[in-house]
Order: sequence, then C-alpha cells, then structure tokens
Amino acid sequence: MPGDTCDVVVLLSGSGSNLQALIDSSAAPGSKVRVRAVIANRADAYGLQRAEAAGIATAVLDHKGFDGRDAFDAALMALIDGFAPQLVVLAGFMRILSGGFVRHYQGRLLNIHPSLLPLYKGLHTHQRALDAGDAEHGCSVHFVTEELDGGPLVVQAVIAVEPDDTAQSLAQRVHRQEHQIYPLAVRWFAEGRLRLGEEGALLDGQPLPASGHLIRP
Ligand code: GAR
Repeated sequence: MPGDTCDVVVLLSGSGSNLQALIDSSAAPGSKVRVRAVIANRADAYGLQRAEAAGIATAVLDHKGFDGRDAFDAALMALIDGFAPQLVVLAGFMRILSGGFVRHYQGRLLNIHPSLLPLYKGLHTHQRALDAGDAEHGCSVHFVTEELDGGPLVVQAVIAVEPDDTAQSLAQRVHRQEHQIYPLAVRWFAEGRLRLGEEGALLDGQPLPASGHLIRP
C-alpha cells in the first residue's frame, strides 16, 4: 500500500464523531487515508450527515429487513466490497458480526471500544469502570476477531479517573482520546506500518505489546 491511497469503508450506527475525526485527519497534507464510503444500519444515524457534508458516498442497510444475522452480513459484505476498500473501520457500529464476516475481513477490520480492553467488553463501560473503583480508564483500537470486543490490540489511550467523575464526564474525556487514537491507527495501517501477523498486531514489523501501543495524554 505504501505510495497509494488506502480506501476505507466506515460502518456506524450513531453520531459518528469518530468518523468525523477520521475525515478531519484524512484531510491533512500527505494523508494516504481516503474515506471511500460510510455505511449505517440505521437511516437516522447522524454519521450519515457528516459523510454527506464531506462529499463521501453513503448507504443504509437496515438489519431489520433481513432474515437473520448471516443474511444481513452477506448483504453487508457485498455492499462493502462494491467499494473495494483496503480497510474496514467499525466506528460505533452496534451490531455483532458473524464469524464469516469477521474472517472475510481478517487483518483489515478495525474497531474502537470505550474501555481499556480486555476490561469491560460490551456496553456501559464508563459506569462499570466507576463501579469497580478503577483509577484508570480509557479506550482501545483493535483488530477484530470472532470474539466480541476481542482481538489483538493496536493502541490504547489511558486517562486518570478523577474522584468527581460521572459516567458522562468520563465518556466525554474518553471520546476525546478516541478521536486521537483511531486516526493514528488508521494512518499506521494506510502507511503500511500496521498489520496483523500470526501472533498479533505488528507495527513496523515488530510485535506490539499485549496492551497495544500505550498513550498517556
Ligand atoms: C464510541 O465511544 C465507540 O468507542 C463505541 O461507540 C461510540 C461511537 O461514538 N463503540 C462501542 O462501544 C463498540 N463496542 P461515535 O458515533 O460518536 O463515533
């Protein structure tokens, strides 16, 4: 991929602030990242408006119109592959993906999750970090495997939990970090620096630690 642009298809279900961060960073001089299309499983996802405002192709594929996960995922794969992306980015895509889907995009499917994985897979991550009395919280970018919110970690941003934090205040600070680390991971991939090896994620040919690259802003 070095030398060429890296076409990215983004899947989302909601606000799309991570999509916006990717769009903004791809506008930087010399960026190899091109957001080729945005696909949502909900017609009311605000991320679709962000994409349209940036002149990016959009599509809606409503899972409710399909008879089961496999049928939806097959249609989703066909739609994505029509854009021939090098990378597929999950940016708040709130659907569990089938094994067939994940295997089809192995090594070229990234996700962002609002916790320090492997802690707090699933939902309500900020409240769960507070309930556990954690001193630190954050967000993670990882290659997607068949395990929900699992898969080799690429980068994590770690923030301190303050005594007066609420789930909302934590969510805000974690979101700010998501907008830093997701464009970073996508840039690494587009530059041919990041890939999924047999044993895990590699950056510049070197295995990343199990936590991924750690950032403590
Ligand atoms: C983000 O916080 C992302 O980490 C989370 O959804 C939010 C989407 O925000 N993803 C997951 O929880 C995936 N398990 P956005 O629409 O503003 O980018």
